[in-house]
Amino acid sequence: MSKMKKLPVAKVGEIPEGRTKSFRYGFQEGIAYNDNGEIKAYVNFCTHAGGPVGLEPDGRFHCRWHFAEFDPKTGERLAGQAPEGTRLKPIELVEEEGMMYAMFEIKDEFEF
Ligand code: FES
Repeated sequence: MSKMKKLPVAKVGEIPEGRTKSFRYGFQEGIAYNDNGEIKAYVNFCTHAGGPVGLEPDGRFHCRWHFAEFDPKTGERLAGQAPEGTRLKPIELVEEEGMMYAMFEIKDEFEF
């Protein structure tokens, strides 16, 4: 058994177009990206060895550890050491009363 919990990401309208915001996602970090008005979010955990990614001026996410590149619109790996065909894990978002929340699954053995 598990249950879903809503974790705060950002206020609606807080993240400008083409920009990002980091947020807590359980024991990990999430990264949210405004794609032409649509907010996308991923677990910020590179598919090579788990490094954090960040947005660079070329419009791509770059891993801070060994520089793999990912598409912030889809999470797909574009270049570098991360295996071809992999992607950042997407996070489902919900909007409620002016806030964006990330859906997080809590296993029974964890409570926080
Ligand atoms: S951990 Fe991201 S490229 Fe190695």
